[in-house]
Amino acid sequence: MTETNSLGLAGKNGLVTAAGDGIGRASALAFAAAGARVLISDIAPEGLEETARLIRETGGTFETLIGDASLESVAEETVARVVELWGSLDFAHNNAGIGTANSPFADQDRAAWERVFSVNVFGTMTFMKHELRQMEKQGSGAIVNTASMAGKNGSPGLSAYVASKWAVNGMTQTAALEYAAKGIRVNSICPGATLTTALRNWKASSPDAYDAVAASIPMRRMGEPEEQAAAVVWLCSAQASYITGTLLNVEGGDGILGKP
Ligand SMILES: NC(=O)c1ccc[n+]([C@@H]2O[C@H](COP(=O)([O-])OP(=O)(O)OC[C@H]3O[C@@H](n4cnc5c(N)ncnc54)[C@H](O)[C@@H]3O)[C@@H](O)[C@H]2O)c1
Repeated sequence: MTETNSLGLAGKNGLVTAAGDGIGRASALAFAAAGARVLISDIAPEGLEETARLIRETGGTFETLIGDASLESVAEETVARVVELWGSLDFAHNNAGIGTANSPFADQDRAAWERVFSVNVFGTMTFMKHELRQMEKQGSGAIVNTASMAGKNGSPGLSAYVASKWAVNGMTQTAALEYAAKGIRVNSICPGATLTTALRNWKASSPDAYDAVAASIPMRRMGEPEEQAAAVVWLCSAQASYITGTLLNVEGGDGILGKP
């Protein structure tokens, strides 16, 4: 594809995890639209097929990889595949993350924490590790992790998810410092409520509850996956060349509201 903007991503190579739906799909489409080549991966083949179809429709360049982003073997394979296909890893969007059922801290189940941490923390950590090894060889690269506003605040009932997203933000800032002088930038996006499949289903089944939550957000609406993707692509672009270690709120002002 020919680039029609000044993002500097045309002809660049990268990866997006959990690209079979939601924010990951929007990010994969946005990178392709910016003229980048993108390896899209997901644990579920059906969603990934649909993302592939959408990129193909626009004439974008991509490859697919099915794999569980919590596994180090998948992280290693994904990075190696991008380099084998296209010669470099210029950007990476580590987006895979899962939630938990809502319950108070005293009822927390260690096995549930381990599941959340295996994807959100250890998955992100091992992807970053293999990406950074490759980017260090090149002397360049940009990584964006999908954290959450839950990685900056508390959220009653969601302790495992909150702790995991604080860890993502902690890893982001630590790696940003370690690699800042080596030409590699590492940032996070911190989405607020974003209209991906789960929230769209909730909106359809409980419209009143949905409207009440949306009305409590300063912009009076939830975010779109494309709005998260735009932030990811920009953070990976030449336009963000002096930005590293930033934990970027993409949340319609919700994070600064100081809700009771
Ligand atoms: N949607 C929101 O409101 C919101 C808010 C804050 C943060 N986030 C974060 O954004 C990221 C994406 O969330 P979303 O809402 O777009 O998700 P989604 O539920 O719309 O899509 C999730 C995708 O992840 C894939 N996936 C699940 N486990 C995986 C694994 N182990 N390995 C590889 N792929 C896996 C699924 O198959 C699916 O295609 C997550 O890290 C999530 O925590 C989302």
